[in-house]
Amino acid sequence: MTLPDRFGRPLRNLRLSVTDRCNLRCQYCMPEEEYVWLPKSNVLTFEEMLRLVDVFVSLGVDKVRLTGGEPLLRADLPVLVQMLAQRPAIADLALTTNGVLLRDHAVALRQAGLHRVTVSLDTLDASTFQLLSRRNDLARVLDGIAAAREAGFTEIKLDSVVIAGVNDQELPALVSFAQSVGAEVRFIEYMDVGGATHWRMDRVVSRARMLALLGAHFGAIGEVARTSSAPAEQFVLADGTKFGIISSVTAPFCASCDRARLTADGMWFTCLYAKDGTDLRALLRGGASDEVVRQKLLEVWAGRVDRGAEERAAMPLRAPLAAVGSLRQNPHLEMHTRGG
Ligand code: GTP
Ligand code: 5AD
Ligand code: SF4
Repeated sequence: MTLPDRFGRPLRNLRLSVTDRCNLRCQYCMPEEEYVWLPKSNVLTFEEMLRLVDVFVSLGVDKVRLTGGEPLLRADLPVLVQMLAQRPAIADLALTTNGVLLRDHAVALRQAGLHRVTVSLDTLDASTFQLLSRRNDLARVLDGIAAAREAGFTEIKLDSVVIAGVNDQELPALVSFAQSVGAEVRFIEYMDVGGATHWRMDRVVSRARMLALLGAHFGAIGEVARTSSAPAEQFVLADGTKFGIISSVTAPFCASCDRARLTADGMWFTCLYAKDGTDLRALLRGGASDEVVRQKLLEVWAGRVDRGAEERAAMPLRAPLAAVGSLRQNPHLEMHTRGG
């Protein structure tokens, strides 16, 4: 079944946040000193998550990505992975992690049936890592990537958010590093999402600028034809090395966006930039049947008109999406709650 929204976009891709907690404090996501966390009692149990996933799957979702916060902070994550991996309708089951705890969990995740891992890696320089994430964990992240390979993961992606003056000189090094560990790096334009309170347009490194920086180092860069609705455009160097760019700021991909996001406490958002979501926890805990939940999802997706990144791109003067005060009042606006 493919369920079209008002712009004809199907619902195929579910990003399931399993915790809003994180063990890093990346400048582009969690730059503040204090955060308001979701009350623990509101966080969905694995059983509740699986019930919702099954309803999403019945409506056409075949890609599930576990996110956070940092998903490896959720106790017993491999148990959830195993339950999801047993569902044949989920053709693609992936995890986004900052890699700090990956050494401890890679084997269990692989054995549980996880298909793919994406590790956030913005820098290869320990002092830049410290500056960016306010933790001194670069060595653990690099070891986590090695652990993922050793555990047998083959399709490893590395996600780098590029910030002007912070890590924009490292693009060639990140491409070479990814190649050396059999992974593919994707460079992400720094987005003005909720939580990015230090965002400024002049800190965004555009796709065009990234290509210029990489071209100056590696020479000719070719474009690889798109094969999916994934946001990354793929490029190839003369030696065959591939990398991606996600240009959500300068060239948004809303027209093909098939994603839904479920927060750890069961709020469902149909756009990264959406102000409001649908409270699925209230439905579940109020005793709603699967059919009632299904009807709710159908109704919301059928009415979906979100194109948040395109709307932001059309603004003449762009500033951070949300002020610190409003984030404190409503942590659901945060990227670390919504799932990066
Ligand atoms: P694959 O399934 O491996 O292709 O993953 P993906 O290409 O879907 O990428 P992933 O979900 O790992 O997202 C990578 C990055 O793209 C995120 O960390 C965000 O920075 C950005 N991104 C992800 N989802 C969205 C979205 O819904 N809208 C926008 N505008 N940007 C997004
Ligand atoms: N801009 C772009 N990507 C972001 N992420 C979080 N905040 C931002 C932002 N402001 C994404 C990154 C990171 C993942 C966890 O979330 O890809 O690797
Ligand atoms: Fe999808 Fe919203 Fe991101 Fe656009 S901004 S790609 S509609 S989630």
